[in-house]
Amino acid sequence: MTYKVFIDDNFHYGDETERYPHGTFETLDAAIAAAKAVVDDYLENATKQGITPDGLLESYLLFGEDPFIISTDDSESGVLFSARDYARLRCGQLEEQGRAHAIDHWSTNSPVNRPPWSLRRVHAVDSATLSGLADVLIDCVEGGASVSFMLPLTRERALAFWKIVADGVADGERALLVAEDERGVCGTVQLILAQPENQPHRADLSKMLVHRRARRHGVGSALMRGAQAMALECGKTLLVLDTASADAERLYEREGWVRVGAVPGFALLPDGRPCDTVFYYLVVRGADSNSTSK
Ligand SMILES: CC(C)(COP(=O)(O)OP(=O)(O)OC[C@H]1O[C@@H](n2cnc3c(N)ncnc32)[C@H](O)[C@@H]1OP(=O)(O)O)[C@@H](O)C(=O)NCCC(=O)NCCS
Repeated sequence: MTYKVFIDDNFHYGDETERYPHGTFETLDAAIAAAKAVVDDYLENATKQGITPDGLLESYLLFGEDPFIISTDDSESGVLFSARDYARLRCGQLEEQGRAHAIDHWSTNSPVNRPPWSLRRVHAVDSATLSGLADVLIDCVEGGASVSFMLPLTRERALAFWKIVADGVADGERALLVAEDERGVCGTVQLILAQPENQPHRADLSKMLVHRRARRHGVGSALMRGAQAMALECGKTLLVLDTASADAERLYEREGWVRVGAVPGFALLPDGRPCDTVFYYLVVRGADSNSTSK
């Protein structure tokens, strides 16, 4: 008797066309070790991308690979390996060990492999975070991003904007995520949770900003994935956004967002030139929708 490991993909849960064989093993122990390695690989990579331990399981359930085992003669029935249970176990262990230890474990102890930033959901915005958020907004506007503000954007106006956001976070009307590097806040994204009563399942994704010093290192991508996990935490299953940035369009499409279309001349760039704006949506799939899996 041998054991075959197949891999499904949580992001395409239920779609057997996405399934592929991983290998055939002489013993169940060897098959389980191979299946565990698949889960560990995902958790390792997600940690390197800056997912915090408490967001790791959610991220795995949304995007991870889901190995399962079947025996070739059907003499052993039932679930031989549950990737979700194993991921839950590993995430629990890692949460206990703490993120720093987890990164050490998976980065082969080489500081160069560690992500130089981390993500944090902010429930109460302190003054240092407020100041860092203002710096990021000013940097993005000065870099030409069309994100509601015109040049020149004073620090006072930027701080006033973030104070409104901070109040919204405190009131539960917004959910805020920040990325931080050794110099402080280097990126952010937020969900506007307060919506009309006929759209309780929807949030607007807004102010997706990465400081120019931190771009092109995966911060934007990690923020988008974190925003999805945060949406689920907040009970939101439909996200909508608009953008006037080609860099952002590529990012959103990579992350699975659906392009609705462009409105010509919708907004102004910070220097006053008109720009088109593209609208996107994303249906956020919950971990519960995967609960019947192996
Ligand atoms: C759009 C924005 C948020 C992207 O942030 P980011 O942190 O640079 O995003 P990522 O690093 O995940 O991806 C950016 C690029 O770097 C690449 N990249 C990611 N990690 C990388 C790495 N380690 N090494 C090299 N390239 C990398 C990505 O593949 C992507 O490539 P692409 O330009 O070919 O699409 C950022 O450009 C920004 O803040 N722009 C101004 C504000 C704005 O317009 N926001 C959108 C409002 S809706």
